[in-house]
Amino acid sequence: MKFFIDTANLKEIQEAHALGILDGVTTNPSLMAKEGITGASNIEAHYVRICDIVDGDVSAEVNATDYAGMVKEGTHLASLANNIVVKVPMTKDGVKAISHFTDHGISTNCTLVFSAAQAILAAKAGATYVSPFIGRIDDTNWDGMELIKEMAEIYAIQGFEAQILAASIRNSRHIVEAAKNGADVCTCPLSAILGMLKHPLTDIGLAQFLADYKKGNA
Ligand code: E4P
Repeated sequence: MKFFIDTANLKEIQEAHALGILDGVTTNPSLMAKEGITGASNIEAHYVRICDIVDGDVSAEVNATDYAGMVKEGTHLASLANNIVVKVPMTKDGVKAISHFTDHGISTNCTLVFSAAQAILAAKAGATYVSPFIGRIDDTNWDGMELIKEMAEIYAIQGFEAQILAASIRNSRHIVEAAKNGADVCTCPLSAILGMLKHPLTDIGLAQFLADYKKGNA
């Protein structure tokens, strides 16, 4: 499973990159706004800064909602760096735009996916990545992981090449479950990635090893 970080914060991207486990980055307009990055030219410059840090795929989301606008904006975003993936919402115009980008060799990430039906359409349109929003589904008292499982089954049966990108990840348990249920990629906040490191027995064991070493090597 590939690891993406879900942030527009450069320090967090650098920290995850330094671990040597980072395969890519996802952003969205809310994450850009959180970093105070506003205005098309500043947003574009920020994408370039992110692409300078990571070699892997970097999702850049269109803000247009109509087909022609998405094609224009996405084509421009894709020209910023060769690892840009155009992120397009799961709407009628979005599916049409994904089909266009597929025909023109531009990689896409279909975002805001909440059902298997939507996931089938996105894959059929040729999306490179399809992003089910796990945490947001869990927030509505449904099980986000069931969608990952369903998508993995359908994509395998149908031979769809789209990669399942588990998004809206809230904690390290989500990452483990996404891996178990067949996600190809997990995009996570830094806190969830770092949460994977933690186990009290590791801390206790290390403290014991260090104490015993100290005794014998005082
Ligand atoms: C995915 O690409 C989105 O940026 C993201 O995972 C949304 O997560 P949220 O529900 O925490 O906002």
